[in-house]
Amino acid sequence: MTAAPESLTIRRPDDWHLHFRDGATMRAVVPHTATQFARAIVMPNLSPPVTTSAQAAAYRERILDAVPEGAQFTPLMTAYLTDQTDADDLAQGHAAGIFTAAKLYPAGATTNSAHGVTDVANIMAVLERMAAIGMPLCVHGEVTSADIDIFDREAVFIDRVLAPLVSKLPELKVIFEHITTSQAVQFVDGASANVAATITPQHLHINRNAMLVGGMRPHMYCLPVAKREEHRLALRRAATSGSAKYFLGTDSAPHHRAAKESDCGCAGIFNAPFALESYLAVFEEESAIAQFEGFASENGPRIYGLPLNEGSVTLEKTTHIVPDEVDGGDARIVPFHAGETLNWRLVSVTD
Ligand code: DOR
Ligand code: ZN
Repeated sequence: MTAAPESLTIRRPDDWHLHFRDGATMRAVVPHTATQFARAIVMPNLSPPVTTSAQAAAYRERILDAVPEGAQFTPLMTAYLTDQTDADDLAQGHAAGIFTAAKLYPAGATTNSAHGVTDVANIMAVLERMAAIGMPLCVHGEVTSADIDIFDREAVFIDRVLAPLVSKLPELKVIFEHITTSQAVQFVDGASANVAATITPQHLHINRNAMLVGGMRPHMYCLPVAKREEHRLALRRAATSGSAKYFLGTDSAPHHRAAKESDCGCAGIFNAPFALESYLAVFEEESAIAQFEGFASENGPRIYGLPLNEGSVTLEKTTHIVPDEVDGGDARIVPFHAGETLNWRLVSVTD
């Protein structure tokens, strides 16, 4: 006789930040997300970027075509802000339900960000309009100046860009995405209810040693880059604290193996296949399973002003080994936790 496995059922969660890409890669990766999450905020950093509501509407259709039969999944689209963003198109796209939010990439900060914003001052009129209509701003929070050390870029961004922006436009809803530092936690904790943050699974699991000790490990490289252990611990405390300001956003970022294992490897960790299991491991290790549902399924929709999902997901305590590679359309992708054992497994989803 075997004991019944431990299981956990929570309200169906959403992923408030990820990358699907396009074409064959997108078709290969969408099912991983669509079978776990009810909704996902889809990043617009395609090449060329998704800057207009017409582009976003077409991209949304391509994503919906890739959702497996029987899965209930809604992609929530974002606009890629540039120095030239048209505030009217943005506002009309938001009113029409095409754009859920807009994304600020500082130009040059990360993958396909070359068309991003060169100075927040250039888009102040757009941000004022967003504040007026209640459209959330998603922020990649890193400065890009060559003289700032890569490990300091988030903390410097808070001082130079984010803190001044939030005090200038206190009514703007700001999602500080994929935070990686104790400075970010301190900033978000101290800011108004209009400022919240997403946290990725990798930044809860790894510090910078995972990327650099014993050899360079390109599959542990993402942006913002993982920091020192003290920062990882601060992120774990924030995620599991029960604070409504922190919520799930995987930043799942598929890149083919060859693009990661190269002279200039791409930034991004593909965590979509076992995203929920990866987060739940952290909450269990922190003895905070009771806080998991808030982080995964409640805080995000409340901050975005969207309804909570009605369905549920059930995870069971069963060990399984994460595959070394998964299908990425035209080529293979190495997932987060490749070759490692995870202790929970998603076993059922209701809509
Ligand atoms: O690691 C990252 N990958 N960080 C980002 O900001 C972009 C993303 C991507 O698009 O691959
Ligand atoms: Zn991202």
